[in-house]
Amino acid sequence: MAHIAVLAGDGIGPEVTAAAQRVLAAALPDLTFTPAAVGAAAISLHGTPLPAQTLEVCAASDAILFGAVGGPGFDGVRPEQRPEAGILGLRKHFGLFANLRPSRVFAGLEDRSPLRAEIVRGMDLAIVRELTGGLYFGIKSLEIEAGVMTARESLVYTADEIERVAVFAFELAQTRRRKLTSIDKNNVLVSSQLWRRIVSERAADYPDVELEHMLVDNAAMQLVRDPRHFDVIVTENMFGDILSDEAAMITGSIGAAPSASLGAAAGEHRFGLYEPISGTAPDIAGTNRANPAAAILSAALLARFSLGDPGTADAIEAAVAQTLARGPRTADLAAPGDPIASTASFADAVIAALPTRAHAG
Ligand code: IPM
Ligand code: MG
Repeated sequence: MAHIAVLAGDGIGPEVTAAAQRVLAAALPDLTFTPAAVGAAAISLHGTPLPAQTLEVCAASDAILFGAVGGPGFDGVRPEQRPEAGILGLRKHFGLFANLRPSRVFAGLEDRSPLRAEIVRGMDLAIVRELTGGLYFGIKSLEIEAGVMTARESLVYTADEIERVAVFAFELAQTRRRKLTSIDKNNVLVSSQLWRRIVSERAADYPDVELEHMLVDNAAMQLVRDPRHFDVIVTENMFGDILSDEAAMITGSIGAAPSASLGAAAGEHRFGLYEPISGTAPDIAGTNRANPAAAILSAALLARFSLGDPGTADAIEAAVAQTLARGPRTADLAAPGDPIASTASFADAVIAALPTRAHAG
């Protein structure tokens, strides 16, 4: 019996995470779920975004189902005291260096993309974002220097950090269309020069994978020009944060974009954190209108990677695809004039679409 830590967090996090938990429980009735506080919710309960008891619950679990963190009223608050320190601290604490963010256009939703349907039809890519290095975790300072307020961040990557995420991406590419695009800013950043060198060296171990390098500004352009060009993308932390929002929106809504954060390069059964990439969506929080598809698809990734149960993962993904195709969809993906599903009713429809084998018992 597997144990899941449920860290719903802030904004739409509690609603979409509850929906994902219901789907997972329907597919796998033997799981146990333990809630724990994170983000602004944890700050108001315990005075810190990542309480020690939350880390204990996570450490005693096989996987973390995560919602979102963030909230109003933290502008100018030091990074380590902000709600976001909750998720950043979890990634670092558990060494979750590889963040998988798949983006695909579901059949029947081509017209929901902001791009023309013929550009996006069949788009199916996966971004592997390095998650525990780079600007996010470099030394920061904010001080008066020579009489002027000065902010500093440092962008640090070691060869080992680059190598392990490159290996993860090459291995993922071998299970897909065998094409890897490594994205960097090699023409300006020395960290990108090291990145490109290490990724190129590792390519020798994967002769079956076609490797290309692309500068990040060009990549932002190519993603909207021809998203089907890409299969697997590997890139550093900040570039991956930005490009994954872009790729998600091209599919029609960031509300259907899941992620898996993992700490091992190989193997089927491993600890991980699973979260929608979207964030807290404060404008619709608490209204039962958010799209839970990203959270439900994150739960499918949990079944695939942390439970070693690809059958359940496939079943949940198929049920989501079928529900999106048939409708009703949540407001972010509904066409004008279509009926609109609530967060909870969309999850009900996904549960009803699960094969009986998966939700029997
Ligand atoms: C994401 C989010 C986070 C990040 C925030 C909430 C710290 O934008 O997971 O993409 O920047 O990594
Ligand atoms: Mg982001």
